[in-house]
Amino acid sequence: MTSIAAAQNIEFASRDRISSLQLERLQWSLLYSYNNVPHYRKAFDDAGVHPRDLLDLSDLSKFPFTAKADLRANYPFGMFAVPQDQVSRIHASSGTTGRPAVVGYTTGDLNNWADLVARSLTAAGVKPSDKVHIAYGYGLFTGGLGAHYGAERLGCTVIPMSGGMTERQIQLIEDFEPDAIMVTPSYMLTIVDAMIAKGIDPAKTSLRTGVFGAEPWTEEMRTELEKQLNMDAVDIYGLSEVMGPGVAMECVETKDGLHVWEDHFYPEIIDPVTGEVLPDGEEGELVFTSLTKEAMPIIRYCTRDLTRLLPGTARSMRRMQKVTGRTDDMIILRGVNLFPTQIEELILTVPALAPQFQCILDRPGRTDELTVRVESRLDASATDRSGATAELQKLVKNRIGVTVAVDVVEPGALERSIGKAKRLIDNRAIGRSVGQGGGRRVGHVP
Ligand code: DLL
Repeated sequence: MTSIAAAQNIEFASRDRISSLQLERLQWSLLYSYNNVPHYRKAFDDAGVHPRDLLDLSDLSKFPFTAKADLRANYPFGMFAVPQDQVSRIHASSGTTGRPAVVGYTTGDLNNWADLVARSLTAAGVKPSDKVHIAYGYGLFTGGLGAHYGAERLGCTVIPMSGGMTERQIQLIEDFEPDAIMVTPSYMLTIVDAMIAKGIDPAKTSLRTGVFGAEPWTEEMRTELEKQLNMDAVDIYGLSEVMGPGVAMECVETKDGLHVWEDHFYPEIIDPVTGEVLPDGEEGELVFTSLTKEAMPIIRYCTRDLTRLLPGTARSMRRMQKVTGRTDDMIILRGVNLFPTQIEELILTVPALAPQFQCILDRPGRTDELTVRVESRLDASATDRSGATAELQKLVKNRIGVTVAVDVVEPGALERSIGKAKRLIDNRAIGRSVGQGGGRRVGHVP
């Protein structure tokens, strides 16, 4: 049996089989981390736990969390469990503040990663004979190379375009006629706008599948992209610290959230304030433990992504609902919590507004104020635009419960994303962090 066929098997296995495989692998991963990574040995010892204390999957809650700060504190290679000559590749997550988080892979890890991205592409409906255009950035970011080797593993013809050079993207889509594209949803919108500006109908390209991820996007955005591009748009999730793209994937036949590849990653949802593990179905912060990683095993990594775990549908592995947002991107406005995705959902219900927007936080006096700056659609008239301003304001007030300012700008006025979109601009006084800030961070809650 090829590795892909074996993997397909486990995707549909009984819950019992999945759980017993997870227990066996979790016991291995905890012991392996304890024996090979000084950080884990110390953290487990400090918490008074030993890998042999894990007799049941639920015992994982006794083990300490890992935060991005732990990766930074062990910069660059302190979290690695193997000597450097066994590390085949390094990636790093963008360090907007301070040191980046560095991650490493053995050849075995790279092999699993390619298998999981191939599995994800199969779930997306991509076939071995398809041409796949990759517009995730290549380099230290895991998006480009992660997608690349997975598409190759599946047997696809890979077009390694990387991000940026929008004109060239369009030319290659026109000339090479790819069947699928892998790109952030916000950069896909940038490409769509540029196509329209050139007089190309995005619905008439060869693209039939969009594998969109690396940033939060909503059901309303799916409808928008599917309509504009006449394609199936499916969600791919992942993060460098845990692997890269392909940790979880939505199946094209159901489009109902992302199946977590539970044979390699054990998911938990915790209360982001107390660190308590929440039952499936409840929303909280997603936490992952790797089950098979060799170069950089990761134990109870707090992702800061908010979602909930749901039972399997198209596959027997559990699903995670589309990510609402990161705890870092949560805006607290006069006591009300809100995320840019909630604004996106509402914008897309107003016909005169385009899905190009930014949330701008200011503090002109003693209280925070939020302005939603959003572009109008190309065909919107001046009357449509002023109607849209009032309509969006009213929707936000009624659905979210806060008053915001709405600034409708000309099509093309906002800076375009070529990777992950920056939806939140915080212009408030330096020294005060966005959203709930450090105060609610769990860190090492046992
Ligand atoms: O963004 C890996 C990736 C590349 C995933 C390409 C999918 C496609 P990082 O740069 O480490 O890795 O960023 C990880 O991005 O914790 C989430 O906050 C966010 N993210 C990734 N995928 C999704 C998604 C890659 N499908 C961080 N929905 C994660 C929402 C996502 N957020």
